[in-house]
Amino acid sequence: MKKVNVGILGATGMVGQRFVTLLKDHPFFEVKVLCASYRNVGKTYEEAVGSKWAMEEDIPEYARKMVLMDVLDVENVSKEVDLVFSAVKMEKDEIKAFEEAYARHEVVVVSNNSAFRWGEDVPMLLPECNVDHLKAIEHQKKRLGTKKGFIVVKPNCSIQSYTPVLYALKEYEPTTCVISTYQAISGAGRTFETWPEMVENIIPYIGGEEEKSEKEPLKIMGEVKDGVIVPSDSLKISCSCVRVPVLNGHTATVRVSFKKKPTKEEFIKKITEFKGVPQEKDLPHAPKQFIHYFTESDRPQVKLDVDLEGGMAIMIGRLEEDNLYDYKFIGLSHNTLRGAAGGGVLSAETLYALGYLE
Ligand SMILES: NC(=O)c1ccc[n+]([C@@H]2O[C@H](COP(=O)([O-])OP(=O)(O)OC[C@H]3O[C@@H](n4cnc5c(N)ncnc54)[C@H](OP(=O)(O)O)[C@@H]3O)[C@@H](O)[C@H]2O)c1
Repeated sequence: MKKVNVGILGATGMVGQRFVTLLKDHPFFEVKVLCASYRNVGKTYEEAVGSKWAMEEDIPEYARKMVLMDVLDVENVSKEVDLVFSAVKMEKDEIKAFEEAYARHEVVVVSNNSAFRWGEDVPMLLPECNVDHLKAIEHQKKRLGTKKGFIVVKPNCSIQSYTPVLYALKEYEPTTCVISTYQAISGAGRTFETWPEMVENIIPYIGGEEEKSEKEPLKIMGEVKDGVIVPSDSLKISCSCVRVPVLNGHTATVRVSFKKKPTKEEFIKKITEFKGVPQEKDLPHAPKQFIHYFTESDRPQVKLDVDLEGGMAIMIGRLEEDNLYDYKFIGLSHNTLRGAAGGGVLSAETLYALGYLE
């Protein structure tokens, strides 16, 4: 199959920079357009991103001299691309308007923004888990009146550290789950240079994050009925989210009870053997092992483990029986890779492999 022409909306931002890096020499996708706000239209990518470049490696050569277009110039951007990766910081209503406009212009939208996460016919994709939700795209295309254009969203970065475990153990019917997340500053698009108040600090509030962390896993655990996605109503989650002085990597402490309690051996077997389309089809950004289980009592650690499998693996440790709940464990995932741009690229690779981009 020939390469799909893609654009990156919000290419100058923290998540956008990751997309620019991950899509270098991609076997399925060719980056044709980079977009940012009207403030940067007409500048080269290199000029616009300037000292805001926050990746470990240099700006890829292919992107340096590309001249930026406006995210909102849907008419002209759509002529150049078949798919856009969207990671823009704007008001929800504005994001909804332009993402839907791209879909109506027959462009596939893979979004990192939360604007459409609650659409009943918009899959919120964790590619190893709920690919069956892609069936809802038919309903969405009918609603939008499109042939090729549709929107798929990526869930919030915080939930990747525990939702894959709950999903892998779905047959045991998780019922109650209490979580605390310890979230990195890059999750807010910031670094220690741009957010010096975070050095040696913890901020006990992240706007909107607890609601997303409690509700989004329910949609992922849900089923498609009559063409639309119906969230699970058998699981209840309570979550506290705090910002910690870490650059990359969201940690979660989790307590969970089940209707049918698995043994510890069953728990470990299910999560370590769990895999999905990305592993079966050996997709370019798929981790070989999706969920890594650590037996050492001081793992997973952000500094040692967050980049495992290119930042695309989920790391679990400290699995023990709990006094109040069935089990407790600790999870870790990379928030701008698995939790943002990497998850977006893997979602698009999954769409490609399953024939949704033909
Ligand atoms: N950081 C994470 O770990 C993470 C994880 C999951 C999801 N997300 C989501 O991804 C999105 C982007 O996050 P980020 O951290 O990358 O933000 P960011 O670093 O602040 O970047 C924001 C991007 O949006 C563009 N933008 C801002 N105002 C605009 C406007 N009026 N018109 C067009 N473009 C505009 C900016 O372009 P200019 O440079 O021209 O201003 C920039 O490219 C957000 O919705 C965020 O919630 C982030």
